[in-house]
Amino acid sequence: MKTTLSVWLCLLAAVTAPLSDATTGHFSVSVPSEPISVWLGDAVVLPCTVTPSMDARDLELRWYRPQKFNMPLLHYKEHQLQTSSLDPRYRDRVSLEHGTEALARGNLSLRLRNITAADPGEYVCYVSSDQWYEKGQVSLHLNNLVGSPLVLSVQPSNGDRGGAQPQVNVTCVSEGWFPKPTLTWRDSKGTEVKDQQGVYYSTDAQGLVSVTGWLLYSPSDSEWLSCSVSLSQGDSREGRVLTHIHAPSGWMAAFISLLVLILLSAIIIITVLLVRSRRRGRKESKGNAVRSAEGDVSPEEMKELMAKDMDTEVQKRDLEDMRKKAGKI
Ligand SMILES: *[C@@H]1O[C@H](CO)[C@@H](O)[C@H](O)[C@H]1NC(C)=O
Ligand SMILES: *[C@@H]1O[C@H](CO)[C@@H](O)[C@H](O)[C@H]1NC(C)=O
Ligand SMILES: *[C@@H]1O[C@H](CO)[C@@H](O)[C@H](O)[C@H]1NC(C)=O
Repeated sequence: MKTTLSVWLCLLAAVTAPLSDATTGHFSVSVPSEPISVWLGDAVVLPCTVTPSMDARDLELRWYRPQKFNMPLLHYKEHQLQTSSLDPRYRDRVSLEHGTEALARGNLSLRLRNITAADPGEYVCYVSSDQWYEKGQVSLHLNNLVGSPLVLSVQPSNGDRGGAQPQVNVTCVSEGWFPKPTLTWRDSKGTEVKDQQGVYYSTDAQGLVSVTGWLLYSPSDSEWLSCSVSLSQGDSREGRVLTHIHAPSGWMAAFISLLVLILLSAIIIITVLLVRSRRRGRKESKGNAVRSAEGDVSPEEMKELMAKDMDTEVQKRDLEDMRKKAGKI
């Protein structure tokens, strides 16, 4: 309907060329040809102006997603913003960038806030008068987001039945991606590992994607594994993890706890023994002191004591001799 009407109007405009100018309501809509880029969660302005510059307050204005003409994001008609039949996904997130006053200057730019993962794509700026309508399409592009550094961990596999080839469950976690990334495991030779694995994705309210990948693996097959999370456009993160478990598992854990127990009890026993023997030692030395005071001295000790006394005797005699000699001089 509208298309045939506009064709007719075009023909009419061509035929009556000398009559059609701005005053007859013949206008066009000007929008950027390049896509507008924005980050998730940010706000963005989708520019749209009527040319030649004219007062658009008497016109009808619609901003809508393709195929959603009857459920626009924003609808201005009969000199006011309409509130019915609007797209609920954009409720409270859209406004005219310069308010309705800017319509007087022909500026119909739309501000879109709190960009979500569902927002990228085409937006139509549609302007209509009684005799004419025109529309322009603005492309909104969402920038890629590279998520957090990878967190890698190795755990003994739950399904490990203690076979000849014990397996580990290696996990790789990262959050904050847009759009949804892919997760790839590689061994130390760079070969992609595809068996026995799983990937979980979760998306938050804004559309940011978190990824968790796990892989069952035999440590003997490769000393380490690499996990890489990447976007199709090439942005990626990579991390490596050793496949050997440092934390002991199963009977090893039991064995080590037993060892620790034995060691602990040994330490306790030794400490108790040491404390006791030290106490006894102190009592014994006290006993010695008492014995010597009582004159209860062993023959050896007696000899030693006497030797010391004799020494002093000798020294005394020598001194006396020297004095005597000195006196003679
Ligand atoms: C209309 O508003 C947009 C967004 O603020 C601005 O970039 C543009 O220059 C304005 N155009 C006119 C003709 O006022
Ligand atoms: C937009 O985001 C801000 C904070 O980021 C929040 O306070 C506000 O409620 C959001 N608005 C809508 C309509 O979601
Ligand atoms: C490996 O670990 C992940 C995360 O802890 C878990 O979701 C998955 O089920 C485990 N796989 C196996 C086979 O145990």
